[in-house]
Amino acid sequence: MGKVIYVLPDGGERAVEAREGESLMQVAVQAGIDAIEGECGGEMSCATCHVWIGDECATKLKRASQDELDLLEADDLFTDESRLGCQIKYSSELDGIIARIPG
Ligand code: FES
Repeated sequence: MGKVIYVLPDGGERAVEAREGESLMQVAVQAGIDAIEGECGGEMSCATCHVWIGDECATKLKRASQDELDLLEADDLFTDESRLGCQIKYSSELDGIIARIPG
C-alpha cells in the first residue's frame, strides 16, 4: 500500500491509497475522482484517464508505448508530461507519485 496524489483540475489535491498492480486510473475511479472517467476500462481507446506526471516522478515509469502516445497526442491538452493513467501500474517505488489531471 502507498499513496497516489492527484491534483485536480481546480487545483485541489486528493491523496488516495493504492495497491500494488492497480492502475492510476483504477485508483482514481475507485476513490470517486470524477475528473478521471476511465471510460474504456483501460483498453487504451478513450484518453479519459489522461494525467500529467512531472519529471521527478516520470523517471520511475516505463516509457509510454507508441499506441499510448498516439492516443495522447490527439488530445488538445497533450504535453510532454502526458500519460494515460490506465497504463501506469502502481508499485511501491511510486509511493507519493503526483498525477495532475488536465483541465
Ligand atoms: S481508461 Fe481509456 S485510455 Fe485509459
